[in-house]
Amino acid sequence: MKFFVDTADTAEIKSLAASGLLDGVTTNPSLIAKSGRKILDVVAEICDLVPGPVSAEVAATDYDGMIREAKVLRAIASNVAVKLPLIPDGLRACRTLADQGTMVNVTLCFSAAQALLAAKAGASFVSPFVGRLDDIGQDGMGLIADILTIYRNYPALKTEVLVASIRHPIHVVQSAKLGAHVATLPPAVLRQLFAHPLTDKGLAGFLADWAKTGQTIA
Ligand code: E4P
Repeated sequence: MKFFVDTADTAEIKSLAASGLLDGVTTNPSLIAKSGRKILDVVAEICDLVPGPVSAEVAATDYDGMIREAKVLRAIASNVAVKLPLIPDGLRACRTLADQGTMVNVTLCFSAAQALLAAKAGASFVSPFVGRLDDIGQDGMGLIADILTIYRNYPALKTEVLVASIRHPIHVVQSAKLGAHVATLPPAVLRQLFAHPLTDKGLAGFLADWAKTGQTIA
């Protein structure tokens, strides 16, 4: 399973990239706004930090506008994935860009029917938002299971399921159990994956016993 980080905070990305566990980055207009920086600058910096796919989202909602913005975004670096909203013009733009060899991440997916359309439009990634579905009392992980079942029925569909709007490590583990291709994690959730109190307790015990030996290794 690939791990992307869902942030436009380059300091966070730099520190997480050093772990060697990062396969890509996703941003969205809200995350760019939070960074307080210009989208072209911040995406260029992220693309330098992480060689994997870096999603940068268009702001236009009409076909021509999306294509115009996509050309600017994809010119930033070869690892930019243009992020398009799951609306009719977005899927039309997805088909055009996919045919030109541009990586596309279709975002704001909330149903299996929408995910089927994104795959038929040639998306490289589809982003179902599990947390936002859970927030309104719907079954986010159930949607991931449905999409994966559908995609597996049609091996010609090459779209990867990128689980988005992840809120906690259980979402990550459930996504992995289902076989989702990618999870995009807020930095705090990525860090939470490391944590277990028995790891901390065990390490403290080992170090205390080691100190008693008076030995050094290097
Ligand atoms: C995905 O690409 C989105 O940027 C993101 O996962 C949205 O998550 P949120 O629901 O926490 O805003």
